[in-house]
Amino acid sequence: MAEPYILITGGCGFIGSNFVRHMLAKRRYRIVNFDKLTYAGNPENLQDIEKDERYTFIKGDIAEASDAEKVFELPIEFVVNFAAESHVDRSIIDPDAFIKTNINGTFRLLEMARKKNVKKFVQISTDEVYGSLGKEGKFREDTPLAPNSPYSASKASADVLAMAYYTTYGMPVVITRCSNNYGPYQFPEKLIPLIISNALDGIELPVYGDGLNIRDWIHVADHCEAIDVVLHKGKEGNVYNIGGENERTNIEIVKLILKVLGKPETLIKYVKDRPGHDRRYAIDSTKLRQELGFKPHTDFAQGMEETVKWYVEHRGWWERIKSGAYLEYYKAMYGNR
Ligand code: NAD
Ligand code: DAU
Repeated sequence: MAEPYILITGGCGFIGSNFVRHMLAKRRYRIVNFDKLTYAGNPENLQDIEKDERYTFIKGDIAEASDAEKVFELPIEFVVNFAAESHVDRSIIDPDAFIKTNINGTFRLLEMARKKNVKKFVQISTDEVYGSLGKEGKFREDTPLAPNSPYSASKASADVLAMAYYTTYGMPVVITRCSNNYGPYQFPEKLIPLIISNALDGIELPVYGDGLNIRDWIHVADHCEAIDVVLHKGKEGNVYNIGGENERTNIEIVKLILKVLGKPETLIKYVKDRPGHDRRYAIDSTKLRQELGFKPHTDFAQGMEETVKWYVEHRGWWERIKSGAYLEYYKAMYGNR
């Protein structure tokens, strides 16, 4: 029997590329990677598998009807939607693309998937849709949505739209909401790869505010496995939180990286805070564990050590990114901070 087609959008980004590799190794699908190749989309991330006969790449925009229609000429049976503008700081400077891709783009994919009667549509969302926590408590699937940034508001909009397709049309939608990922191929605008690469270059490490904001870190390989489980076992119309159970302050993360690299803490520079900066995220993933039997297995200290090593060994990968447009972005974001 021929393998079914699965559409993976945003497959040239950080989590998408890890997921494409995971699916080729673990499952029997024909994979269609539909990606616009924005600044964050990097074909190099999948160079090792691009010749696999089960893999097809289509360049295009999920928000453009003609691009989406072309992709759905293939007999797509499953969709996993990673494609998004994903960086909070960029959404504060210029929210336009976030509305277009994250809201209109998800709408376009839902429409196409509805017309083609797909068997499962997995919307990759984020814990940021729940807003910010105080010292106590964790996000559960029934925590009310209270997004604070244009990024998280656009992701929350996509979530309610996707759920409306389940309620109204009976579309087999499931939503995942994961905490902060770390691991190989993360674009060096995000905290961990930015700090590692700056430290390797011996330049300042910008820490926002007091450095005591808390994130719940999960290795990208664990996130990919969890999505695989939700794709195959998740119940239609359900949301599944995915968390790492590794709450750390930002300054702890930065100091850990310096320790692994053997670099001095004098590189740390406290800078002006992010506007509307969420204080704490923490995920309650009881539902994923009890209903679908999944829990992450990467030990945080070991996962971080391996991640730091990956960036040390793949200097060319991030040096090619940290040039041209990236340097302009860095100057605009950090120049007068
Ligand atoms: P990323 O920025 O690394 O990659 C995004 C990818 O989407 C890129 O390849 C880009 O080219 C593509 N893309 C952007 N706009 C597109 C469009 N209009 N049409 C087609 N492709 C487009 O993002 P990431 O960190 O890998 O995140 C992937 C998904 O996971 C996002 O939906 C994000 O909201 C979600 N998420 C991320 C994290 C995290 O910690 N990184 C945590 C939870 C959820
Ligand atoms: O929680 C899931 C979310 O995690 C995803 O939905 C987003 O796509 C992803 O970008 C991430 O959002 P964050 O804003 O939490 O990640 P970021 O790496 O940008 O920042 C992590 C923390 O580090 C945050 O508190 C801000 C802080 N920070 C970040 C940068 C880039 C700094 O102190 N200095 C920095 O230079």
